[in-house]
Amino acid sequence: MRTEKFFRAVDLVKTFEGIVALKHINIDVAQGEVVGLVGDNGAGKSTFVKLVSGVYRPDSGYFLINGKKFERLTISDCQQLGITIVHQESTTADKQTIWRNVFLGKELTYPLGFLKINEMKRRTAELLEGLGFVAERATSPDNVLRNLSGGFRQGIQLARALDFTANLAILDEPTVGLSLAESQIVLDFVSKIKEKGKSVILISHNIYHLYPVADRFVILDRGSKVGEFLKKDMTIDDMSRVLVSIARTGHFPKEFEDKNIDSNPIVRSTYD
Ligand SMILES: Nc1ncnc2c1ncn2[C@@H]1O[C@H](COP(=O)(O)OP(=O)(O)OP(=O)(O)O)[C@@H](O)[C@H]1O
Ligand SMILES: [Mg+2]
Repeated sequence: MRTEKFFRAVDLVKTFEGIVALKHINIDVAQGEVVGLVGDNGAGKSTFVKLVSGVYRPDSGYFLINGKKFERLTISDCQQLGITIVHQESTTADKQTIWRNVFLGKELTYPLGFLKINEMKRRTAELLEGLGFVAERATSPDNVLRNLSGGFRQGIQLARALDFTANLAILDEPTVGLSLAESQIVLDFVSKIKEKGKSVILISHNIYHLYPVADRFVILDRGSKVGEFLKKDMTIDDMSRVLVSIARTGHFPKEFEDKNIDSNPIVRSTYD
């Protein structure tokens, strides 16, 4: 089935003082799709996220978003394009209320600069409800973030990511350090984002977190993209085997090569 990829990162290269963090990487995402981005420590996952968010600019390569070409992206490009990013290093303000956090850095104001507090609270309440925030303490926009569990705190990050207009959320390791139950809350959020027809690029080391929610996987290894496949083509056990093999050899294993979208022109042409 052909799917329209509204977001494409094309041939991205990024080096840091001689270290090649990303080598000619292509990553794309279609509307309503969850792409799992996988790879060991140092694979280049967060570097990719930071190229999208404008923390870094690519050495070469570009982005094609809704058909428009960008040599680099900035925070305001992302806002305009409806791309929201939750970085691996969390940026919530734990002593602040939920509504403050949801609108952190993008507060709604009147022309004179006064905050539209009631509107922000109202929209936060709507967002929490829409996300299925049912735990008592989490439901009020006035609650302070540090009183919430880690899972709900991540949930607030995702609520920010969902924004009100966001189309694509990029989440860098949102389940790290969370308990089983908290991770499940975060993964349920990802499913809800998808249900709303929005797209997600989800980064995690834990394939047992990724596998149930993702539609497609992209594997990075030491800065290179080594494989890409659809969930429907691979069981979780096979995926686990593929990842172990890549960690050992740096290559997509031959026995699964027919599943690899990147190296299979027939799959690629029907898929692109
Ligand atoms: N600001 C920087 N300066 C120098 N080197 C960097 C910088 N940021 C990343 N790197 C290097 O680039 C490579 C990729 O790092 P990156 O953080 O993107 O990996 P990652 O896949 O996110 O790893 P992890 O799973 O540990 O989060 C690593 O070798 C890292 O040391
Ligand atoms: Mg990282």
